[in-house]
Amino acid sequence: MTDLADHLDDLALRYGNRFLLEPAPDDRLPEHGRTATDTMRLLGEELVLDGIPMRNLATFVTTWMEPEAQRVIAENLHRNFIDHAEYPQTAAIEQRCIRMLADLFHAPGETTGARTQGSSEAIMLGALSLKWKWRERREAAGKPFDRPNLVFGGDVHVVWEKFCRYFDVEPRIIPLQPDKYTIGPEDVEPHVDENTIGVAAVLGTTFTGHADDITGINDLLVRLQHERGLDVPLHVDAASGGFVWPFLYPHSEWDFRLERVRSINTSGHKYGLVYPGIGWLIFREKSDLAEDLVFYENYLGKRDATFTLNFSTGSAMVLAQYYNFVRFGQGGYRYIMETMQANTRVLAKRLAEDGRFQLIGREDDEQLPLVAFQLAEARGYDEFDVASQLAAERGWMVPAYTLPPNAEHVTIMRALVKLTLGRTLVDTLADDISDACDTLDKKGGLHEIDRQRVKTGVGY
Ligand SMILES: Cc1ncc(COP(=O)(O)O)c(C=O)c1O
Repeated sequence: MTDLADHLDDLALRYGNRFLLEPAPDDRLPEHGRTATDTMRLLGEELVLDGIPMRNLATFVTTWMEPEAQRVIAENLHRNFIDHAEYPQTAAIEQRCIRMLADLFHAPGETTGARTQGSSEAIMLGALSLKWKWRERREAAGKPFDRPNLVFGGDVHVVWEKFCRYFDVEPRIIPLQPDKYTIGPEDVEPHVDENTIGVAAVLGTTFTGHADDITGINDLLVRLQHERGLDVPLHVDAASGGFVWPFLYPHSEWDFRLERVRSINTSGHKYGLVYPGIGWLIFREKSDLAEDLVFYENYLGKRDATFTLNFSTGSAMVLAQYYNFVRFGQGGYRYIMETMQANTRVLAKRLAEDGRFQLIGREDDEQLPLVAFQLAEARGYDEFDVASQLAAERGWMVPAYTLPPNAEHVTIMRALVKLTLGRTLVDTLADDISDACDTLDKKGGLHEIDRQRVKTGVGY
């Protein structure tokens, strides 16, 4: 055996591939390293076990960028974004992106914002600013500021609850209803009081892709200000919708056209069409950012301001975002969103024609380019079975999940139709879903053991 090992070691010196005979380093930094090629192959061989991102119809995050954009990314991985003194042009490009987004979201004048790691960091920062500004107002009025609360619907992403827990704010979560999966002014009103630091509304929910009634909530907050003197700002979580609504529904008002909307977050790495690692926070006016949250440092005699939770981070995705802005422009983004929407409609039609499904929402609803659907009637299997059978037969990742309270008895499946799901694949997917159901019609639902292994997340 030892001879064989020695022999193989000798051969490995000539041919490489020694890693094929050993378990991957797992719990201890290996004593010695290995060749770059072997290391690359070791990683490559393991990662084939991960899902194929292009078949992941659960994720909102970009899974494909064109080669030229990939080149921009690859050529700028060595630039630390936070080092504004050494990389001033990258910092200038970040500011261009912020100005472009502020313009897209109809900011009334010059404003400010921040590049973030994603919408989660943007939401943390935006909500911190809401808390700080509320405290300033309370202090100025000589009123107590020890019991802040934040109002949002059960249709938000988990980050909103996370913010409340991390930063000691009472979450006032409006439950969904059995047949209403977004929130409106009538839901919000009972929860707002003088300790409300803000209301968060979603443009494009993770669950069904619809929007909260943002205009209605804005009007409510305007009224509460007039009637009760409550100064409650509105933050729009446009993680997904921020790059969709301006192009598919340009006349729909959800942004700074509404006077109570004071800040907006969006994920560059979702419909901004950049790979993971980029989000944006945009304020309506400079004064909406609490000055106390900005840190000033002296860099080579220049005053540099930072407003982030992280410090060092890559520049590549900021540059990739700017690449997309320049490359596509408004016309290009519109074309891409309309392409996704057209294919979404084909998929929706095909699923409706199958007869076993019903769609969530109507065709004329404002919605992200996705199809949310469920079984039309009780069968010998449920949506989790369909998701699982589809994955087993064809490898598609189409999530099934239950909605938050009080709609937890509702199960939904959801397929995102992105640029990697062209017309041919849409047809294939529709056929595959029908085939998976045919199989289930014959064999019945999953065995209990298989059921325990079914994924129940919404995908991100
Ligand atoms: C509505 C909404 N808000 C916030 C987030 C968090 O965004 P990110 O993953 O960019 O941090 C998501 C992610 O799915 C989302 O859908």
